Amino acid sequence: MSFTADRLLLFGATGDLAQRMLLPSLYALDADGLLSDDLKIVGTARSDLSTDDYRVFAREALEKYLPEDRRGGVAGFLDRLSYVPVDATTLDGYESLAREVGEYPNGLAIFLSTAPSLFEATIAGLEHAGLTGSNVRIGLEKPLGTSLSTSCEINDAVAKAFTEDRIFRIDHYLGKETVQNLLALRFANLLFEPVWNATYIDHVQITVAETVGLESRVAYYDDSGALRDMVQNHMLQLLALVAMEPPTSFDATSVRDEKVKVLRALRPIAKDETVTGQYRAGAIDGQAVPGYDEELGRESDTETFVAIKAHVDNWRWKGVPFYMRTGKRLPERVTEIVIQFRCIPHSIFEGRGATTQPNRLVIGIQPEENIQMTMMAKVPGLDREGLRLRPVPLDIAMPDAFSGAVRRIAYERLLLDLVEGDQTLFVRRDEVEAQWDWIDAIRQLWEANDIKPKTYGSGSWGPSAAIALAERGGVSWHDE
Ligand code: BG6
Repeated sequence: MSFTADRLLLFGATGDLAQRMLLPSLYALDADGLLSDDLKIVGTARSDLSTDDYRVFAREALEKYLPEDRRGGVAGFLDRLSYVPVDATTLDGYESLAREVGEYPNGLAIFLSTAPSLFEATIAGLEHAGLTGSNVRIGLEKPLGTSLSTSCEINDAVAKAFTEDRIFRIDHYLGKETVQNLLALRFANLLFEPVWNATYIDHVQITVAETVGLESRVAYYDDSGALRDMVQNHMLQLLALVAMEPPTSFDATSVRDEKVKVLRALRPIAKDETVTGQYRAGAIDGQAVPGYDEELGRESDTETFVAIKAHVDNWRWKGVPFYMRTGKRLPERVTEIVIQFRCIPHSIFEGRGATTQPNRLVIGIQPEENIQMTMMAKVPGLDREGLRLRPVPLDIAMPDAFSGAVRRIAYERLLLDLVEGDQTLFVRRDEVEAQWDWIDAIRQLWEANDIKPKTYGSGSWGPSAAIALAERGGVSWHDE
């Protein structure tokens, strides 16, 4: 379905995501001349606003969330916007919505950022108003369900009106530049692929640590928990990109075919391969912060931290654990992937008293975008008291290497791909279902064994059991 849409219809246009990410991203694309002059953006939500009100709303969001030096040209962008209030649960508003959308000679792109409970009703409304034709595509924001069965229900409802090649499931991690760079690192260099397997790699670590707590998302988060909020989507996508076989080309089918094979090869987790936690009061950056139960106003069994030892059961990864951990209220915000290589098979330096350490590749995704390879090097000197070797980092800081390039936020890339119809960075139905299948089994395991979150102080790296989980495999998490 290759067409560049000339209308973009945003559901959830007054929501938090729209204010923080979607409007600033669309503005940035507009400011850089990446949107066609004909592209009109129609916002819709329940709030009873006029187009003028919505433009004021959008201006305020841009003033709040855009850096000051990027605010020129806002007026021109606001002219693209219009607004129609719709109560997604009744069919009433959809006809006036269709009238506002008007003609779209090339095509229409819809972005659904609403509660999943509204998905089915919204699809029915779109069908009713004739907004699901073959030149309409739809982007779906998470959460797409809370389990395999609820995700299937949503996918079935969407599939009634849209073919898979017109469904764009968003995982905003795939829009991050450094995540895409993982593919460049692996497949645009000769160096890594020959050693990217169980013969040379000891284990992999994937960390997504956040300092924030519940924020204003109490209801959503307490029903979700870290496993469904972060592992089911972002972390499994990172794992799939690290572990997949080389696709034949960088296109939607080849890349997603390879990712889904990895997701299906994930071994069900055993009882001692997972740790969950929930934060208590503590301090982040010297500031006292309350515990989860205090923020929530009651006790809860929802996990705000998960650590998992995963395995990909195929030839390439036989016996290589993938340690994953994510949590809220951890000491720093960091997303990184660590590839820990094995020891050299024989050290010629041993007789000289020098020890070697295995190589390590650290791929920093945020906030630092860098790639660091730790190599052994000789400490300069005449070695009269014995030869000394020390690990030294080979560092590529992306912002320095590409200092002239604009750093774009994930949604700029994803919105542009949605408008232009490139599915490579969107998640296919079989991937989502393989992800849920594995996650559901973990939840069942927790239930069957009455595994409840252990507490951890805000500002720590999670419950001590997470450290023990790694240590049992002879591994230390990268921060230690
Ligand atoms: C979202 C989760 O998908 O990702 C949030 O719902 C989380 O809980 C966020 O904070 C993290 O995204 P990022 O881009 O800030 O790492």
